[in-house]
Amino acid sequence: MAYDLAFIVTTRAQGLAEFGAASTPEALEAARIKFIGPKGVAKAMLGGMKDVPKEQRAEFGKAANQLAKDLEEAYSAAKAKLGDAAAPLPKDAIDLTRPGKGFDVGRPHVITQTFEEIVGIFNRLGFALAEGPEVEDERHNFDALNIPPGHPARNEENNFYLQLNAPDWDVKPVPMLLRSQTSTIQIRAMESVKPPVRVIAPGRVYRPDTVDATHHFMFHQVEGLAVDKDLTFGDLKACLELFVKEFFGADTRMRFRPHYFPFTEVSAEIDIDCAMFKHLRKPWLEVLGCGMVHPNVLRAVGYDPDEVTGFAFGMGVERIAMLKHGIGDIRWFVSNDLRFLKQF
Ligand code: DAH
Repeated sequence: MAYDLAFIVTTRAQGLAEFGAASTPEALEAARIKFIGPKGVAKAMLGGMKDVPKEQRAEFGKAANQLAKDLEEAYSAAKAKLGDAAAPLPKDAIDLTRPGKGFDVGRPHVITQTFEEIVGIFNRLGFALAEGPEVEDERHNFDALNIPPGHPARNEENNFYLQLNAPDWDVKPVPMLLRSQTSTIQIRAMESVKPPVRVIAPGRVYRPDTVDATHHFMFHQVEGLAVDKDLTFGDLKACLELFVKEFFGADTRMRFRPHYFPFTEVSAEIDIDCAMFKHLRKPWLEVLGCGMVHPNVLRAVGYDPDEVTGFAFGMGVERIAMLKHGIGDIRWFVSNDLRFLKQF
């Protein structure tokens, strides 16, 4: 090995670079052994002095000593730096490599999502969105829907009537109640336009039921209504079959079963085959009431039953959301429990 000034220059450059780059104690130790260890480059260089031509020896020796010192210093500096990294962080230090804190993103409530899905399907069939008030009069909740005075559906214990009788009023207030069904919106829709009408109406309804896993005093319904010339039960069937298959899946088996509602004649309920819902043991479950709008209902809003016919339907949103998602308790919808809400 020929030792000369050029060798010193390259060794310094290499040594400083390797000490500077050592990012682990192991790498630093390897660099130490290589450059300043007992068998390292610096020692070998001093040992090789005797081979340097005499006239260069003084200059070389000085440069070699300086190099040995510089390498020692570079080693100490690198060691101090590594030591710092292992030391505990000061209290106010920010560790930019730590993962950030997650934050919850809100989302529509599962009932809102179900509303949107149902309304979306009927929108595509040409039904327009309609709404009505939650505080209603008896005309919209009962009379115009062909529910006569004395009918059990009108009883005090089946409805939330409002106490509007202030003692100093000299007129008897009109009885009002929290609507017990969204069928009220059928009446309001027909009162506001001439036929044809095609509306889909989501809303909240109230009944004084004792709360348990399947009952609540407040729940949601979606109501649909179509009135036009020559509408038949065939139109109703096609429309609702399409809805059921769209909402529950194309393979859903369903059946129409004769039923009774005061505001429709004929009336039916739709059941769906629960074989597809593994969490249910019942063979069939009713999901929807429907029928041809009763002539008395058409007359009540000034329509002529000889001119137009219509079909209507209503469904409980909690019930079908429970069925679709396998939700076991209606109370969870209003529990405000994020563990439940986050699943949808
Ligand atoms: N209003 C009924 C209920 O609350 C549901 C219903 C049944 C609505 C038949 C309709 C219908 O429009 O045609 O139970």
